[in-house]
Amino acid sequence: MLTIIECLKWAEKVLTKVSPTPYLDSEIILLHIIKKDKVYLILNGNKMLEVDEEERFKSLINERLDYKPVQYIVNNQEFMGFDFYVDSRVLIPRSDTEILVESVLERIDGIDKGNIAVLDIGAGSGAVAIAIDLFSKNANVFSVDISLEALEVAKLNNKRLNANVKFVFSDVFDNVEGKFDVIVSNPPYIEKSEYETLDKNVKDFEPMLALKAKNGGIFFYERIIEESFDYLKKGGILAFEVGYNQSMKIMKLMAEKGYENISIIQDLSGINRVVLGYRGGKDV
Ligand SMILES: C[S@@+](CC[C@H](N)C(=O)[O-])C[C@H]1O[C@@H](n2cnc3c(N)ncnc32)[C@H](O)[C@@H]1O
Repeated sequence: MLTIIECLKWAEKVLTKVSPTPYLDSEIILLHIIKKDKVYLILNGNKMLEVDEEERFKSLINERLDYKPVQYIVNNQEFMGFDFYVDSRVLIPRSDTEILVESVLERIDGIDKGNIAVLDIGAGSGAVAIAIDLFSKNANVFSVDISLEALEVAKLNNKRLNANVKFVFSDVFDNVEGKFDVIVSNPPYIEKSEYETLDKNVKDFEPMLALKAKNGGIFFYERIIEESFDYLKKGGILAFEVGYNQSMKIMKLMAEKGYENISIIQDLSGINRVVLGYRGGKDV
């Protein structure tokens, strides 16, 4: 039998070869098993784990040794302060995507009217749509995905977090009706050759459907921009998360379509992360 500290030290050592954050991963997995917080670990480092807890810990550390992401092991990822259930049916929400949500929320606040209709394309775990719904007072959020499995997870999170998003099965706009004030999307944007170079923990576990896109990664931007005028009100906002080298291309596509006041928002590392513009043209 091992103490808490001994278990963590053992796990840190074995996980070094698969994880850049072996100690943190070990802590997250242990806390998941013993259902306590970090303070408990600090105060009880010399306490023995129960036999069944130690066995379970070792078995989950072995899963991590097979490169399974820690978020899928504990079925949780925090996003915008909320705990989202995740498993391999959905992309693990990334902290960078919080910039997309924050950019939209800031602008929704400035819209002086009652209900604001928001469409999220590519629901995944529901992170973007649910966070907008929970943080905005007047957003009415719809979210679509082509993956039925992802929609199951998104609906589960909608319920667990007491959100009110309407999740719908759709290939981009195919099953969407009506006009929206905001269209937001973090679509798949990784081109084929780059996809092949992704880390094992991403490529072997996260859904390919959520990551890979044709036309050098810009297929979904092209398609959404092209069809968007049929679904976005004049003056409405189109906001995308983009890959690190895609912002200029997306900006150009939006400008050519007739979007105005297009801006780029950077993440904390100075990478162009969000492209956002306002629909010009006539309201049809
Ligand atoms: C990068 S993930 C984003 C998930 C989530 N919004 C987030 O930010 O964590 C892209 C999502 O788009 C979905 N998707 C892929 N092709 C699609 C299509 N043709 N129509 C609608 N959704 C699609 C995938 O299933 C995946 O859930």
